[in-house]
Amino acid sequence: MYNGGKILIGIIVFLLFAAFPFYNNIGKVSAKPEPKLDTPVIQQLAEKKCVEPKEFMKAEHMQMLNDWRDAAIREGKRIYVNSEGKIFNISLQNTCMNCHSNKKEFCDKCHAYAAVKPYCWTCHIEPKEKRS
Ligand code: HEC
Ligand code: HEC
Ligand code: HEC
Repeated sequence: MYNGGKILIGIIVFLLFAAFPFYNNIGKVSAKPEPKLDTPVIQQLAEKKCVEPKEFMKAEHMQMLNDWRDAAIREGKRIYVNSEGKIFNISLQNTCMNCHSNKKEFCDKCHAYAAVKPYCWTCHIEPKEKRS
């Protein structure tokens, strides 16, 4: 064959370049959301902690909000004691959204990415965003 070695190397180099966008993206899902924790109330916290540990909140906050609603409405229970024995009022607006007052930059960031639209805000009042 005429100069087969060079052609083969050419093909390999070409494939490496052509495939670059694919292997360059391994491990990166398109622009992961970065929910912002920068709110006045969170800035004032001595310990930057949520109601429960971050990993738990990330995975379980939907279930937790359901449990909170059931506790408050069905059982009249308005106090939540967390895994460290700390006490929180059971309230979406006055507890979660007091700290996470930046709903657009926090809740909505993740939810847009995950394509979920919690319907809570037709009844519950959204925090007034100070800055957009
Ligand atoms: C149809 C109207 C409506 C919708 C939609 C709704 N809620 Fe509620 N929710 C209420 C009412 C009314 C109460 C009772 C308020 C009270 O007694 O303090 C309540 C209470 C709660 C409570 C406990 C008390 C409090 O002040 O937070 C939680 C937690 C809660 N809802 C979470 C949610 C979540 C999460 C969603 C969305 C998935 C949601 N709700 C959607 C009407 C609604
Ligand atoms: C006392 C203030 C405070 C309250 C109240 C609070 N949070 Fe948080 N939340 C935080 C802080 C601070 C973090 C970051 C924790 C960390 O990095 O360890 C956080 C983290 C989270 C995360 C994970 C974010 C991520 O980047 O993965 C979710 C989800 C969340 N909170 C939802 C909620 C919900 C829902 C409620 C109400 C049930 C709530 N939070 C109540 C302060 C609060
Ligand atoms: C770290 C990313 C992240 C943050 C921050 C976050 N969420 Fe979520 N949330 C999700 C994901 C992902 C789902 C969908 C989970 C599923 O379908 O299993 C979800 C689902 C929910 C649901 C259930 C919706 C449904 O239709 O089933 C509620 C209610 C909810 N989130 C409330 C909140 C509130 C309130 C905040 C802000 C205080 C918040 N979330 C912040 C990622 C996040």
